[in-house]
Formats: sequence, C-alpha cells, structure tokens
Amino acid sequence: MNFKTTIFSIFFISTGMAIYAQQVPLQKKSAVGNRIVEFVPKGFDKNKTPSLILASEPISKGKVPTDWSLIPEFSFANNKASAVLNLKGDISLYGGGEVTGPLLRNGQSIKLWNTDTGAYSVEGGKRLYQTHPWVMGVRPDGSAFGIIFDSTWKAELITNSNQIIYNSEGALFRVYIIDRKSPQEVMKGLSELTGTIKLPPRWALGYHQCRFSYDSEKRVMEIADNFREKKIPCDVIWMDIDYMQGYRVFTFDSIRFENPKRLNDNLHSKGFKAIYMIDPGVKVDKEYTVYQSGSKNDVWVQQNNGEEYHGKVWPGDCAFPDFTSPKTRKWWAGLYKDFLNTGIDGVWNDMNEPAVNDNDFPEDKRLGTMPYDTPHKGGGNLPQGSHLLYHNAYGRLMVEASYDGILKTNPEKRPFLLTRSNLLGGQRFAATWTGDNYAGWDHLKLSVPMSLTLGLSGQPFSGPDIGGFLGNTDGDLWANWLGFGAFMPFARGHACAGTNDKEPWAYGPEIEKTSRIALERRYRLLPYLYTLFYESSKTGMPVMSPVFFADVKDSRLRAEEQAFLLGENLLVVPAFAKNPVLPSGIWEELNLIEGEKTDKYQAKLSIRGGSIIPAGKVIQNAGENSFDPLSLFVCLDKEGKASGELYLDSGDGFGFQKGDYALITFSAEKKNDIVIVRVSNVEGKRNSNEDVKAVNVSLILSGKIYTGSGTLKDGITITLK
Ligand code: NOJ
Repeated sequence: MNFKTTIFSIFFISTGMAIYAQQVPLQKKSAVGNRIVEFVPKGFDKNKTPSLILASEPISKGKVPTDWSLIPEFSFANNKASAVLNLKGDISLYGGGEVTGPLLRNGQSIKLWNTDTGAYSVEGGKRLYQTHPWVMGVRPDGSAFGIIFDSTWKAELITNSNQIIYNSEGALFRVYIIDRKSPQEVMKGLSELTGTIKLPPRWALGYHQCRFSYDSEKRVMEIADNFREKKIPCDVIWMDIDYMQGYRVFTFDSIRFENPKRLNDNLHSKGFKAIYMIDPGVKVDKEYTVYQSGSKNDVWVQQNNGEEYHGKVWPGDCAFPDFTSPKTRKWWAGLYKDFLNTGIDGVWNDMNEPAVNDNDFPEDKRLGTMPYDTPHKGGGNLPQGSHLLYHNAYGRLMVEASYDGILKTNPEKRPFLLTRSNLLGGQRFAATWTGDNYAGWDHLKLSVPMSLTLGLSGQPFSGPDIGGFLGNTDGDLWANWLGFGAFMPFARGHACAGTNDKEPWAYGPEIEKTSRIALERRYRLLPYLYTLFYESSKTGMPVMSPVFFADVKDSRLRAEEQAFLLGENLLVVPAFAKNPVLPSGIWEELNLIEGEKTDKYQAKLSIRGGSIIPAGKVIQNAGENSFDPLSLFVCLDKEGKASGELYLDSGDGFGFQKGDYALITFSAEKKNDIVIVRVSNVEGKRNSNEDVKAVNVSLILSGKIYTGSGTLKDGITITLK
C-alpha cells in the first residue's frame, strides 16, 4: 500500500495532533441483485459489524454492471470506520428514516443514536428514536440510486450536495448501492434487500384512539361508547402504561383493570380492537414473576463486572432483556401468550431505544441509555458486542421477539405491532409512529415530511400523534391535523398525561362534525388504502409518497412537502398548505362525504387522470361490510382511458397466502359519449362476486360527475350526457 492510498485526508484534530484517516481499499465488489452492488472493504469482519438490516445474507450474482459509476470510498481512523459517496451533478437527496427538517435532505446531517426525544428537542432534532443509514438520490432525469451503510454502530449521516458521508464510531461495514431508472425502482430494490411490511389486518388501517392513559376499564368503555353513539368511525382503543400494576410489564392493575378479558370482550362486542403497551424495562422486584423468570433464564443485560445492569424507567429500577441473545428473544416471545389470551389484539412496544434515566453514568458515555461499553451476549448469527454496536438495534431486536410471540400465540391472525424505536429493515416486524411531538403548528406541518421520509426509507406504515402529544391542543389545531392525518398510513390520535382531552368530540360540536367528516372520508377510502398496503407488502412501495413520485422528471416537485400522494392516484393537499407545488396533468377533485367541500379543515383530494380509485361505504369499523355497494371513482386520461386495482380478502389471517384473495384490475374506456368500466383481470381464487354485489361508478370529467351502476360481472356503462 503506498502513501497516496493510505493517507487521503486529515480526519480530525485531537489533543493537538493530526490524526490521519486511512483509506481502506475494497476487498470485493459484486452484483447481488438487479443493479444492486455490494461493496466490502478490506478488513471487514462480520463479527465486528453484523448485519441487522438486511433480510438475508445477499448472494453474489456476478460482476458489477459495466456502466456502474457509484463507488463508495471507505476509511478508518482511531477505530472508527467511515464511508463517502461522491456525487456528480444536481442530485436531490432523500431518506435517513425518521428525521425532522425538510423532505429534501441536501445539506442536512443526523445523528444515529436512538433517543427518547420529547418534542424532538435533543440536539436540535438531529437525533430521534430510530436509525436508518440509508439515502436515496434522484438525478435530474428522474433516474435514482440508494445507498445502505450496513452498520448499527453509533454514527452520523451527512448529506451534502456533493457527498453522502457516513461516519461511524465502530468497525468497518459493508455498503449496498442500488442504481435504477426511477426512485420507485430504487424503493423496490431497498425492499429486495431489507424486506417489506407484512400485510396488516384490515382493522389496523382504521382510526385509532389513544391517550396516556385511559386509566380504567370504565374510562376506556366511555371512550368506546362515545365513538359509537356519536357515529364517529374508529377501530382501536389503546391502553398506555397505566393499565399495568405499578408499571410492571405483562401485568394488569388489580383495581382499575381488574378483568382485562371482560374489557377486551366488551370492546370486541362493539367492534373495537384493543392494543396494549409493553416496554422493555422489567421492574427489579423479587416478588414479580416476569423478573423472577428472567433472572432464572439469565436473560438480563449485565455490566462488564458481571452484575445485572439496572436503569430507571417508569417503575424505578429495571433490568433489561438482552435481545441480542436468541434465548432471550424466545423467552420474551413466550411472555405474550397469557397476556394476549385475555383478548388483546395488538401490542405497542415503547421506550425501546432503550430509554433510561440514569444519573449514575455521565451523559457523554451513555446519551440517555445504558453506558456505551455495556456488553451484549449475542448468539446465533450475532457476535458479542458493546452497547455502542447494539444500541441502534435494540428496539429492532425487541420487536422481532415481540412479533414472534404474538404470531405464536395467535397463528391464525396477522400480528399488529407498533414500535417507537427501530432500524432500517425493521418494517418487517412493526409499524411505527413519530414519537412525542407537541401540539403546535410546526409539528403539525413537520408530520408530513416525517412520514414521507420514513416511507422513502422502507417504512410505509407510519403516522404522527394526531393533534400533538405534548401540550394542550385547541380545536383549530386538532381539526387541521385530523383533516389530513386521516389520510396518513397510520392514523391515531394520542395525548400526553396532564394535557386536555383530545378526542374528536372534545372541542365542541363544530369540530366534532369536522372530525366525523375527516374519518368518514378515511373509511370510505379503506378499500383503496388496503390495496395500497397489499402492494406495499409485495413491492416495498410507500403507501404515502412525495408528490414528485407523480412525475420524477419534474424538478419543480422535488421539495414539495405539504401535499402528498396516497398511492399513485390520490393527491392530498392539507388545509394548511400554502402554494403547494402540484403535479401537472389531469387531476380532478374527489368528493366523498357531504359537507366536506364547505369544511375549511378538510384536505383537498384529487384523483389522477387515467386512474380508478375503489371506495366503500361509510362504516363505523373495518369489520363491517364496506362493499355494499363498492364505489369506483374514475378519472380518464387524455386518451379517454383509466385503470385501477382493488385488493380484497378476509381482512385477517393467512388465507390470502393460499390464494383466498382477489386482486381485481378495473379498466375504463371512452368511445364517443359512452364510457365502459369493466373488470379486466382478476388474480387469486376468491370469488369477488360474493364480496361485491353491486358497483356504483362516478366518473369525474372537467369537474362534472357522471354516474352509472351495475355488477362486476357485467361491467358498467356510463353515458356522458
Ligand atoms: C412515551 C411514548 O412516546 C408515549 O407515546 C407514551 O404515551 C408514553 N411513553 C407513556 O407510555
């Protein structure tokens, strides 16, 4: 190795001495997929940087394509590995997972160290709950690339306009680059490497109502009854930490939640599902069965001196499962059985960065969690390693264990799991929300680029605490937020302890009416939304996409972050949006509910020319029949044609994997004054004529609506007169 290749830059100055970063040559580069290249630096060791991001170990498929231009440069200094990708030309950068700040990431930097950050206040919002070492670049011609830094070490990700820099505080790692013809194709490539979401149960796409906490069985039922009495659609009521006995996970408060089975049965009888929180910290209490069993099974994180590590969370001193060990994950999964058998439908894993309030160790050696040098056991494919290596994967390993436990308990049901902390690729196990925002206009607006960026980082199932978690919310803010939040992939209202009531009816009759309209619009769109989730589970495409996805060559759209797309065919412009930059071409206004047009809080919806959007009736929960009748909204393109898809199945369970589903393609064609809408293809074995008895079509043409009705079998004819 000569001087030129060994020393290529002054890395940083420490204690007055210049420390030189050594350039690290490549050991190997090879294609591991269609225009996906793996780069392995010399000296890379899986036992120092295991992959917790990829769904499986990539298989070399031969040589790098001859036109390949994107080559990362690795370096190593002071036991810290870095990689840089130099960029040429005018590239729009996206990704980084959960981030504050703009959608367009040029000129940004983030810290990858999962952190409990109320109001995103830690380090000016540069350090949040999740780690996604992933950046996508879109060139002026609409072609795109993406880069994965396959490492979980504490790190920093810098997206300058001419360089993407990843500086880790650990050993060398592999890099994967996808270079394809469009950002959509790059998203697919990302899912080929990191997997996709599993198809969620249909009810998870309904509206969720949460609070920290609805703190008694009585209060929970009051909330549920109010939804039904007021005819405001809702599918799920959430139980935050106060249902537990003294914050001991997997227990129920003996007075306020004395009979969880009765509560869950009651909720079910009214068409609700029940989701309960589980945190990783287990109270150190020799009388507590979970602590006893964990100790017996030797699952706890231990310090270097062999003593159990204890850190403070809600119940005081807690022990923490070492999720790097397969034995621990199995033990954790086993805890869900009795718990879920009370009739619990879904689980919420929180505080799993893991967040620890600990004054025993200096902040610069732990940053809100256990000390950096705390050892983790590893096992299976994972080596032993320090917390500096495993911290960013702690939540991801926890949700893997939780997912397994939920599925094992109820193998006939699709698990629903929400997590606060996660890692790139962690969409395989859990949906997410964007943590503790506050009730203010800036966080309302920020919630759009935050979920868009998660979607562009492989996690399509996300949303904010609608209304804002911290601080009091007024009716105006709530209604504005719900007006577009109702179209985000995960739609849940949540509120912190000590804040005002934040249910749809809490702000008086006018806002209650607005809330009902917003949620009725979501529920009408459930067939479309469910179809998008199905597609996302197959291809990794975001459910909620940035507007530039409508025309990747249109440079005007690259920074638009107020408006967004739901799928490819529906444009959502929130009421707060000022001069949004919208895609050109045919877009027609879509109205779903009476009264929405005159309601200043509702987002404006538009359907894309050339598309057909399936919708259902207004229902109160996703378990009710949506297709009686099915509505199709049709908007023709310049050629007088349109098409769209509807996915249907039983809404839960795994029958769809054996063919019990129907993926229906509709097409519409205009000939003179007649438009015929018909089924042009059906995939799957399900008899959709049983699900869909009647079809109503609304064709929207230059603002006018033409209607027709019929059946799937016979097709529908509309006369444009
Ligand atoms: C922190 C979570 O972010 C929040 O949503 C939750 O309500 C509290 N923990 C209490 O469990």
